[in-house]
Amino acid sequence: MSAIPPPISMLAELTHRCPLACPYCSNPLELLKSDGELPTEVWAGIFRQAADLGVLQLHLSGGEPAARRDLADLVGAAREAGLYVNLITSGIGLTEARLDALEARGLDHVQLSLQGVSAAVADRIGGYAGGFDRKMAVAHSIARRGLPLTVNAVMHRHNLDQLPQAIALAAELGARRIEVACVQFYGWALKNRTALQPSRAQVAAAKVTVEAARDSYKGRMQIDFVPPDYYADYPKACMGGWGSTGLNIAPDGTVLPCHAAQTIPGLSFPKVTDLPLADIWYRSDAFMAFRGTDYLPDICQGCARRDRDFGGCRCQAMALAGDARAADPVCRHSPHRGLVDRLLAEADDRPLEATDFTYRR
Ligand code: SF4
Ligand code: FES
Repeated sequence: MSAIPPPISMLAELTHRCPLACPYCSNPLELLKSDGELPTEVWAGIFRQAADLGVLQLHLSGGEPAARRDLADLVGAAREAGLYVNLITSGIGLTEARLDALEARGLDHVQLSLQGVSAAVADRIGGYAGGFDRKMAVAHSIARRGLPLTVNAVMHRHNLDQLPQAIALAAELGARRIEVACVQFYGWALKNRTALQPSRAQVAAAKVTVEAARDSYKGRMQIDFVPPDYYADYPKACMGGWGSTGLNIAPDGTVLPCHAAQTIPGLSFPKVTDLPLADIWYRSDAFMAFRGTDYLPDICQGCARRDRDFGGCRCQAMALAGDARAADPVCRHSPHRGLVDRLLAEADDRPLEATDFTYRR
């Protein structure tokens, strides 16, 4: 294996607490309680270690990061460490005073989630009555301040038909970018896969919508599209390859190569309170487990795409094939692809109307 590069980005899950209860949340099914969360000064030390290690971009996430009363101090600490700071938020809990404080401490960018374009849809998906109106108030305040904004629209069976309106709303809010992210099946989303899986017709329509919108919003708003990977022929290069560009820190300081890594049995994940971040990144068994491509099966070893997709996603291989070393079952060459095709055929056969969610609580 060639020399290990330093990480470029770090996702800090400051808390698992969240006023919303989205059924597609990527948090683990076992949510951590607030008494297990790291205090401000420990996070500040982690940000300094991350910057020393080579991290450039910090994503503050959760749960809902605004559930942390010390959020502005954390932003300040990260900026002092020299990191570019992006806040990933539902907006709930961000008052004018708190936005003032975040701006004053140097917040670089806000990524605001969008559950739907109407209160009826958004509040049902988020499991929080009144959430949509509060989010819109925060969104308008962010726009007035001129804070760089990305709208993160997580799309699935119950809101994909609102995609044109979601793109229009993002533009109206002054977003520089919208990420149209079709739901990926990890954490709570995997538990809710039957309810969330879009139909083939919805996905085809979404691609047409995105292409048309890219033309009409050219030069005004960037439109990124994360397609639903079950419909692809080849898998995504998840995390740009295991342990190659980024890392996640859970609210209790557990360091993870990706948000779903704890679903892979047999790996143990060190805490940054026990070991320096650099040791964990460069030497821990968990980060070494799937670095490079040596462990991949023969179908990947002989494949021209091996160094492009690294065999896809380890957690998806685990979830679908029961083997984290297998080729991602999304791949047309995978012996497990039939499973994905069956799930898609079932999604097409089901009526589109409401299916019960298991809310993240
Ligand atoms: Fe990727 Fe392996 Fe499929 Fe090739 S065979 S496309 S390397 S998952
Ligand atoms: Fe873990 Fe893809 S989510 S490797």
